[in-house]
Amino acid sequence: MTVVAKGRRSRRGAALTMAVAAVVVATASGCARDAGEVGADQDGGVVHVACGATEEWCAATTEQFTETTGVKADFVRLSSGEALARIQAGKGNAEFDVWYGGPADGYAAAGEQDLLEPYVSANAKAIPAKYKDASGLWTGVYVGALGFCSNGELLKEKGLDAPESWADLLDPKLKKDIGIAHPSTSGTAYTALWTQVQLADGDEDKALKYMRELHPNVLQYTKSGAAPAQMTARGEVAVGVIFSHDCIATQEAGFPDLEVTFPSEGTGYETGGVALVKGAKNPTSARKFIDWALTPEAQEIGPGVKAYQFPTNPDAKVSDKVVDLASIKVVDYDAAAAGAAKSALTKRFDEEVAQAPKS
Ligand code: G6P
Repeated sequence: MTVVAKGRRSRRGAALTMAVAAVVVATASGCARDAGEVGADQDGGVVHVACGATEEWCAATTEQFTETTGVKADFVRLSSGEALARIQAGKGNAEFDVWYGGPADGYAAAGEQDLLEPYVSANAKAIPAKYKDASGLWTGVYVGALGFCSNGELLKEKGLDAPESWADLLDPKLKKDIGIAHPSTSGTAYTALWTQVQLADGDEDKALKYMRELHPNVLQYTKSGAAPAQMTARGEVAVGVIFSHDCIATQEAGFPDLEVTFPSEGTGYETGGVALVKGAKNPTSARKFIDWALTPEAQEIGPGVKAYQFPTNPDAKVSDKVVDLASIKVVDYDAAAAGAAKSALTKRFDEEVAQAPKS
């Protein structure tokens, strides 16, 4: 029990009464929920997350965050381009406090549009420099490599082996037998597109030419990046171009025959980010979420929900199902450069290759 001097007690008592009254008034008028409405440095003890990881990982992460910190959390699963559009639409009246998951180039693009608030978490010290933006615009929480996910039975019928190169995907025998998402909506597909730019030494025309050549073999451009894993598993297509860990997750979900291969020319990879949304209505809780997302505890949640990305915190345990990035050839992937080019390049893809899927 705290004992206070008489004079101080009465001042504290008065302050407490006023604070209680303020809360009652705020609650009665229905506006106690969000910080933006009651004062810039307070918040509603909740964090609204635009979540770009898999649905299962988003759910497990927000639950564990609440269990650990007592701060409520909710999420909407959004592909990278969708998250960017929703955060843009909420400018001035933010719908989300935090963006979590999905390739960092999307965050870099959001930064260019002044949609993020730089935040250098004390916990970001543990994260290697190559996995974070120096100014704190975004910090990496996981890393994943792009690969090919194949349905061996379908390939056998066509007399083909699992593809070993980007060039293999152009085989006319794969006509309408490839699944890949659309780069305007999906961070996975944008990673694939930017990989072509890197393989062409920065020549965007050449990259788009490759995508046009690939087009006759694409059955469908999906909205979300991981969707072609299911298409491949069900035999709708023979090959999905996805992050390799999404193929492993689908193997584990009951399709053990799916095969993962990587292109010999080199493949792209993502650094999945976390960032504070500019104008977040719950900035204190949002910062708490970011701090926590960088801890080993948070980064070890993935494998429990079949998410086998590589954790960026060197102290987090790494599942043996995580791909060893050192064992595959990867292209140079500069999230800032990819993000700066994103809007114009995806517009060109819409115009020159295929239109973005309507929801
Ligand atoms: C899946 C992957 C994540 C990736 C995300 C991108 O959820 O597991 O590693 O960041 O896709 O999503 P998108 O739908 O934008 O391609």
